[in-house]
Amino acid sequence: MKKTIAILEGDGIGPEIMREAVKVLKAVMDKYGHTFDLIYAPFGASAYFSDGSPFPEKTKRICDEAHAIAKGPVGLAVEEMDQIPQEHRPELGAILPLRKRYDTFANFRPVRLPVGLKSFSPLKDEVIGEGIDILMIRELVGGIYFGDKVEGAATEMKFARDDCIYKAGDVRRVAIVAFEEARKRGAKLTNIHKANVLATSRFWREIVEAVAVDYPDIPYQSVLVDNAAFQLVVNPTRFNGVMLLENMQGDILTDQAGGIIGSLGLMPSACMGPEKGYVEPAHGSAPDIAGKNVANPYSMIGSIAMLFEECLALPEEAADIWNGIFEVFEDGFITSDLLVPWHREKKVLTTSEFGDRVVQNILATIA
Ligand code: IPM
Ligand code: MN
Repeated sequence: MKKTIAILEGDGIGPEIMREAVKVLKAVMDKYGHTFDLIYAPFGASAYFSDGSPFPEKTKRICDEAHAIAKGPVGLAVEEMDQIPQEHRPELGAILPLRKRYDTFANFRPVRLPVGLKSFSPLKDEVIGEGIDILMIRELVGGIYFGDKVEGAATEMKFARDDCIYKAGDVRRVAIVAFEEARKRGAKLTNIHKANVLATSRFWREIVEAVAVDYPDIPYQSVLVDNAAFQLVVNPTRFNGVMLLENMQGDILTDQAGGIIGSLGLMPSACMGPEKGYVEPAHGSAPDIAGKNVANPYSMIGSIAMLFEECLALPEEAADIWNGIFEVFEDGFITSDLLVPWHREKKVLTTSEFGDRVVQNILATIA
């Protein structure tokens, strides 16, 4: 298969975790005989300093022409971020516009902790039981993140307001994606909302439940977001299957999910739109450890697996990458973010050693 992939390394640990992800991507290309043109483009806070914009025009053109996009985390240290005007900061100036541009409404965030990796989690073994396997699907281009943002200037009546709007079509399309994923996995669907307080959540629940009628084979449960936060800690496996969340609630609970499996470094993601998708780790750019070759590249390499599966419809290649990643852990290695006292026996890999091992595992199974 011939394809063009845009590579946006981003800031902080972005370039070093992307380097490992690209190693893996190239190994898979060689193994399966694919030809992908990888086109690098500036994106994020460093792009603001080098090109005057966190999402420069040339990057937009490269992304427009690419079949899929792999994006690293963005954001620099506070002192550098303070020099960037609000509208040019990477969150509002790059990530949200990227999501809007490709209308990537369905954000897949897998939360996977196989039983053999229980010790990564801060939770007790009994709580994790047979392992955690949740696909969190977060609506990504609607709700409060994309509503009007108003800050009143009058001194004695200062105020700020963020509008949260969901239209029926916005909810329906992401609900359909979530039910289809649940059906593919033969799993249940948990719908998250705050319908006891918010009009948008009542509306969300109503639309999702109308879609549910078309999926009578999928077990359905509806859980308030605050209760879901609690249950994720005391009984996470009750969510095994698909969880459907609106934008902000999904942002928050997916970080919590990273916590329950042991690290945000274990959170890859794919952001899917009607025509194309892009992949990115769900975490930030960790400027404090950037350039030290210690960051965990799992989330970026896992994002590449998701790029194969979701953006290029090549599930065999994706499975090969996942196996290659999990084998590294099964062989008794970890990365420094997973280093807690009870892991002192394990060997801690650097960023590049982890990538090398994933590549070795992938290439070891060439017939
Ligand atoms: C995420 C991030 C982004 C979000 C930020 C960086 C804009 O936290 O992808 O989860 O809030 O969506
Ligand atoms: Mn987030």
